[in-house]
Amino acid sequence: MALTTSPRGTADIFGSNLETWLKLEGYIRDICRTYGYQELRTPMFEHTELFQRGIGETTDIVEKEMYTFTDRGGRSITLRPEGTAPVVRAFLEHNMGQGPLPVKLFYLGPMFRYERPQAGRYRQFHQFGLEVLGSADPLLDVETILLPVELYKTCGLEGFVVELNSIGCPECRPRYRDELKEYIRPHIGEMCSSCQARFERNPMRLLDCKNEGCRKVLAGAPVITDYLCPGCAEHFAQVRSYLDVLEVEYVLNPKLVRGFDYYTRTVFEVTFAGLGAQNAIGAGGRYDGLIEEVGGSPTPAVGFAVGVERLLLALESEGSFAPEARRPDAFIVQFGGETKVRAAKLMYELRRAGLHAEMDHLSRSVRAQMKAANRLNARWVLILGEEELLAGQAKLKDMDRGTEELVDLAVVRQHIQVGEE
Ligand code: HAM
Repeated sequence: MALTTSPRGTADIFGSNLETWLKLEGYIRDICRTYGYQELRTPMFEHTELFQRGIGETTDIVEKEMYTFTDRGGRSITLRPEGTAPVVRAFLEHNMGQGPLPVKLFYLGPMFRYERPQAGRYRQFHQFGLEVLGSADPLLDVETILLPVELYKTCGLEGFVVELNSIGCPECRPRYRDELKEYIRPHIGEMCSSCQARFERNPMRLLDCKNEGCRKVLAGAPVITDYLCPGCAEHFAQVRSYLDVLEVEYVLNPKLVRGFDYYTRTVFEVTFAGLGAQNAIGAGGRYDGLIEEVGGSPTPAVGFAVGVERLLLALESEGSFAPEARRPDAFIVQFGGETKVRAAKLMYELRRAGLHAEMDHLSRSVRAQMKAANRLNARWVLILGEEELLAGQAKLKDMDRGTEELVDLAVVRQHIQVGEE
């Protein structure tokens, strides 16, 4: 293990890459404000049982992807693999359901899954998620699709597709599950080992197996949308009709099932083809049973989460989202001694006035300081020579226009500020 390498599947975010993150985070906060979502920051870890109960014992995440450990007090703790169950826990803990409904929350932060790292798949990754709790209105299913779609568009992303399905409810799903099992049973021997293992306990998960042979078997399988109960069918019809009215483009994918047990009715995923195997840049759905499962009274809810790294990869591939490069407003060149003291005073004055000012800290020659100013792409360079200083002046170079003039030190700031406009 190299001490100078971060753990597999994790990354440092810094420099211009961080600028891009900050720009995206700004867009996220802006759109959440206009759509009326309040930020919620939950702990990075929760009691393991919350995820076992919430996400489901037989899901990939709970079976093999959680970072779980026993703390020094003997409690089983898990680094959050997703944000929905923690939001539900906080909603119940703080009795948010007693206030005005629906409660509309968003979160932005790291999630942890022990997955096999590859492009677009990490062990620590970030999600921007939103959850609407306390309403069964199909318009809110649509809102949780619309908001991320608007975000993608505002960022300039183009080639994404919204996939939509309904997976029914505990009333209509068992009949479909039985029919699906009957359809698959004669072919189960031809399917991959993970499909065989899931067949009895969670047969609907077989529908999104990527194995070629399994896909062939499932090509003619019955589809859930033919088995929806009247309530689920009506809900799904309304979701589609609102999407049409609001001109949100989508494709129906009857095989979209999602890897969490908490979903009911609407599920959706947004894919971006340019990303290869890990092509989902966001996903979500309705989870009308989860709040009761975690210990609350029956409360409908719906939500969505965007994978931040994947969205940034998609944006990078379209080359449409570079933030403006940052540059110092001024670099102050000095000759050591008293000129350095004056330079320091001036630098902090400029900073106090909101300007980004820099100077040398490595005792470099004047030539090398000029080079450093160039490397930083400083907008102005101020040269504090001893003689000019005696006259209370300094040489100010406009690095964009290539001009220079002698200015009074008392008005340097005004010169720079006017020049910036
Ligand atoms: P999810 O599909 O597991 O859903 O994750 C949502 C998004 O997070 C994915 O579409 C993907 O962009 C990103 N993502 C997931 N795993 C990784 C990973 N290992 N590396 C990088 N990015 C990843 C959920 O987590 C649900 N809680 C969404 C939700 C919210 N449903 C209702 N409300």
